[in-house]
Amino acid sequence: MRQPIYLDYAATTPMCLPALEALFQCLGPKAHFGNPHSTTHPYGLAAKQIIGESSEHFATLIGAAPEEIIWTSGATEANNLAIQGAAHFYTPKGQHLITCQTEHHAVLDVFRTLERQGFSVSYLPVDERGLIDLNQLKASLRPETTLVSIMMVNNELGLIQPVAEIAQLVKDNGSLMHVDAVQALGKLAINLQTLPVDLMSFSGHKIYGPKGIGALYVRAQPKVHLTPLFYGGNQQWGVRPGTEAPGLISAFAKAVQFCVENQRQHTQHVKTLRDLFYKRLHALPGIRFNTDPQRAIPHILNVCFEDIDGEVFLLGTQNEIAISQGSACASGTTQASHVLRAIGLKHQEADRSFRFSFSHLTSIQDLEATLAAIDHLINPTSRKRS
Ligand SMILES: Cc1ncc(COP(=O)(O)O)c(C=O)c1O
Repeated sequence: MRQPIYLDYAATTPMCLPALEALFQCLGPKAHFGNPHSTTHPYGLAAKQIIGESSEHFATLIGAAPEEIIWTSGATEANNLAIQGAAHFYTPKGQHLITCQTEHHAVLDVFRTLERQGFSVSYLPVDERGLIDLNQLKASLRPETTLVSIMMVNNELGLIQPVAEIAQLVKDNGSLMHVDAVQALGKLAINLQTLPVDLMSFSGHKIYGPKGIGALYVRAQPKVHLTPLFYGGNQQWGVRPGTEAPGLISAFAKAVQFCVENQRQHTQHVKTLRDLFYKRLHALPGIRFNTDPQRAIPHILNVCFEDIDGEVFLLGTQNEIAISQGSACASGTTQASHVLRAIGLKHQEADRSFRFSFSHLTSIQDLEATLAAIDHLINPTSRKRS
């Protein structure tokens, strides 16, 4: 059976060749399968070397030092470690935290848990584009605010938050700044030498790397302390104990390199596709764009099809295109997207909205076929023609 055209790259990506090759190097009896902490023999030493080189490689690509990288199972764990870890460690200083209403569930649910544990959390609202108001942030910062967490690129809208300005305000207040940069890595330049951010989360499978691997950047100067999420060994300075996965780590670093090296070319291609898609959809009746293309990465376009029931739209296009409604973690639930609700959409409008996410692997032909499928569904005259 022919597979539908994949336009859900913000949910996950297939692995790129350099990442696959790196992963294979660590699999099988003839590969570098050793335990990186078995440093009494060459098997372990080879695995340790792979992790060391990968940490160095990845750190260089984001303007960090290798000892500032903590490997995790993904961004959900990285977000948990950053937010819970900082909130608990700095409790003697204060118990007030700030985040934003449009964060991913891997951030919001952590804050909700902390609230149940006695922390006080301010959830900043956003405007109709998804931007937070810097004055409102300033007014929310208190002497006892220990941590602020704001994502760099929103996973449903593609919206870019002004993270540098936000981080400066947070720093001036003496608070720590965490950024979920999952949807930004490989698409926007990240330089932690100049960006005053203390903690930053990443995920492998959004950047053509493997699933099951992520990373947390933890600033060393001035040193950021984290209370571990769990205990068990001294790996990764005891902050994240457990045996690291050399293959996944090495594949992650290769995937980042692949994205960073091709960033300009890939972005240009994706922008061409997005602009064409936008223009052609704009000409159709009952279309409303939830993404402001001027403020967003071109990889994500969120569209509301005002005149068609969401389920009818999904059923009518699912043989042709693979898209999502809200984030992948929330799909399958009947709740309207909290992101779309936060930018002012009514329940029904959110229900009729879909996220299209593009890649360098998407072709113009894919886009034409997608547009034809949409046109076929929403335009009665084109339906009559076929
Ligand atoms: C912005 C954002 N943060 C966090 C996550 C969770 O990442 P992971 O799947 O690596 O746990 C996702 C995945 O959808 C995401 O888009």
